[in-house]
Amino acid sequence: MVIDTDVLQPQHSDKTGLDVDPGKMGVAPSAPSAFSALSVEDQPARMNTPFMDNFPDPSQPEHPAETLAPTKLEVHHVNFFYGSFQALHDISMSLLQQRATALIGPSGCGKSTFLRLMNRMNELIEDTRMEGQILLDGQDIYHPDVDVVSLRKEVGMVFQKPNPFPKSIYDNVAYGSRIHGIKDKKTLDEIVESTLQQAGLWGEVKDSLQKSATALSGGQQQRLCIARCLAVQPKVILMDEPTSALDPIAAGHIEELIGQLKKNYTIVIVTHNMQQAARVSDYTGFFYQGELIETGKTAQIFTNPKEKKTEEYITGRFG
Ligand SMILES: Nc1ncnc2c1ncn2[C@@H]1O[C@H](COP(=O)(O)OP(=O)(O)OP(=O)(O)O)[C@@H](O)[C@H]1O
Ligand SMILES: [Mg+2]
Repeated sequence: MVIDTDVLQPQHSDKTGLDVDPGKMGVAPSAPSAFSALSVEDQPARMNTPFMDNFPDPSQPEHPAETLAPTKLEVHHVNFFYGSFQALHDISMSLLQQRATALIGPSGCGKSTFLRLMNRMNELIEDTRMEGQILLDGQDIYHPDVDVVSLRKEVGMVFQKPNPFPKSIYDNVAYGSRIHGIKDKKTLDEIVESTLQQAGLWGEVKDSLQKSATALSGGQQQRLCIARCLAVQPKVILMDEPTSALDPIAAGHIEELIGQLKKNYTIVIVTHNMQQAARVSDYTGFFYQGELIETGKTAQIFTNPKEKKTEEYITGRFG
């Protein structure tokens, strides 16, 4: 029986060009990952967490082994400071292509700060400083030659509160494409339709594209913001608590959408909703007081966390 050895420690591929000593990254050079040396029978029993029913029992023989997806973003030893306050401490993590990764942890632990590092949004905040390295497809996104506007096109972001521009639905979705020089009406029409389709909103708005976006419901506005983000063909979509301002039905639409989108994009989602993390993500990272305490497959984190702090958090003992 093959067991998944797929964990989110950064991989040490030559393509990064980095001189990374795997031993320093918390993984011995040829060390097996936590589960790889164990037979199914040897695996520790699953803990009694509230999430057992969300996942198939990995000890069952029919549990399919999944292939390891390629790495999209690699984070190496990142520290981050607001003035003299250090908000993130030595974070290393890989975010995989065509997978959704959830970032969880109590308020103030650094989830949003971490997310904003992926498209250099923290640079908009004065007196901040980052140490370490973040690679997108093997390229250092903080290299002086990187064009930040192009980076933010590739790494899009969806915020907690939907923030449509006070323009028509059509103009919201076409906005990024126009900025990037697309003027042809037919091309723009196609982009608007296809991205609204992808965002699951086309059916609801196709007859009112000239209506103001601000007249849409909160859930529709959030799907519009996702469409606006998709219209410029990003590789990665960062979502910071994208459903926390929505009712459960609208939130359900967004979760469904994430399930669709992750077939084509790399999704990173911050959420305080443990059930949501368990439902939508393939991987989960648990942050606590600026440190990444544990990362792994969502099923493992929620049913068999390795760290006591993770267990306490997911079982609701703090946070
Ligand atoms: N603009 C800022 N200036 C100074 N400190 C900040 C700033 N933004 C965040 N911080 C601090 O950095 C730490 C991490 O904040 P961050 O917003 O990343 O946490 P979070 O995990 O996203 O929290 P929440 O779940 O409440 O959104 C906190 O101590 C916070 O006070
Ligand atoms: Mg936050």
